[in-house]
Amino acid sequence: MFRSKIGGIGHYVPEWAVTNDDLSKVMDTSDEWIQERTGIQERRYAKKHTETSATMGAKAAEIAIERAGITKEDVDFIIFATLSPDYYFPGCGVLVQRELGITKTEIGALDIRNQCSGFIYGLSIADQFVKTGMYKNILLIGAEMHSMGLDFSTTGRNVTVIFGDGAGAVVIQPTEDENQGILTTKLHSDGTYAEKLAMINPGAHGGYHFDKMGLDMDFGYDESIKYGEIFLTQKMLDEGQYYPNMEGKFVFKLAVQKFPEVIGEALETAGLKTSDIDMMVPHQANLRISQFVQKRLGLRDDQVWNNIQKYGNTTAASVPIALCEAWESGAVKDGDLVCLAAFGSGFTWGSALIRW
Ligand code: UT7
Repeated sequence: MFRSKIGGIGHYVPEWAVTNDDLSKVMDTSDEWIQERTGIQERRYAKKHTETSATMGAKAAEIAIERAGITKEDVDFIIFATLSPDYYFPGCGVLVQRELGITKTEIGALDIRNQCSGFIYGLSIADQFVKTGMYKNILLIGAEMHSMGLDFSTTGRNVTVIFGDGAGAVVIQPTEDENQGILTTKLHSDGTYAEKLAMINPGAHGGYHFDKMGLDMDFGYDESIKYGEIFLTQKMLDEGQYYPNMEGKFVFKLAVQKFPEVIGEALETAGLKTSDIDMMVPHQANLRISQFVQKRLGLRDDQVWNNIQKYGNTTAASVPIALCEAWESGAVKDGDLVCLAAFGSGFTWGSALIRW
């Protein structure tokens, strides 16, 4: 039986660094507030009109492919995780295939929409496909271009200051080395709180979920909506209802509970203990969440990789960017037990244990 491993990893972040002070010029916020609550100092924004989630994903992918010792034509499956796709449809998987110049059609491209846990979900999918022998070189990308969809007025400040753009990619390959590879992945979801962290419009819901759940939100419900108008109405545009919304405190409380839980679950399956972890790479949601989880697990500072200070929360891209930086810096070495974990919109959450 094959095990799967990360054969190559790469990341790309755009050049433009936007500081907290830059944001405080366009909305009522401050460097002090942002750093104290989130640890974020700056984030990167992609170049509009020339960069997208797919193009950034392709840049990260090129590095991962080269490091995996394969060529683009060897890729037999693409998994693309993002919540900020170039198009509503088709997904970024096919766009990245085109961007990379992969012309063969004996390849599949799958887009997944699992937000902050998108990379962990993608890793789990890739792991299953490789272990069954179906694919040998799966390109998994997490990429986000949040900057095009954020509310830069004070109304959107609780969400906008957190997010940044970037991309990370890995190539998942089979290995017969028993001392290497993905040991286990754990996936969870709870749809009860779908609207607590969401971008509701444009969408075909017509107000349904709000009525059904008795939610105190006025997102899109309008008796006069006609077929053909249902995705995006003038009211939604006028009221800025196409921006993401988040109940931050609610999300925070669940995140600090679910991270340790799902990490513990993976350790138990693998027959390992917290003290066996060499490096934890958490989804970069908020430095305070990472610190809380670190404390709960009793890990030292040098056993947790945090880079949210530089990049903000890059959602599906955050785990692969952080993992790539950790590996490039030498903090992740062959034989290390690496623990990945994420929690976010859905809610969906998950973890992975990898023997590097
Ligand atoms: O990756 C996906 C998962 N997402 C997360 O894990 C996010 C989890 N949540 C969080 O990280 C935190 O809840 C936030 C950083 C988003 C917000 O921090 P908070 O301490 O929970 O603040 P809050 O939303 O409860 O707001 C507290 C106050 C409010 O003012 P009032 O009502 O007390 O006067 C907000 O209006 O802070 C205000 N506020 C801001 N002030 C300055 C909210 N955002 C800002 C801002 N700058 N950017």
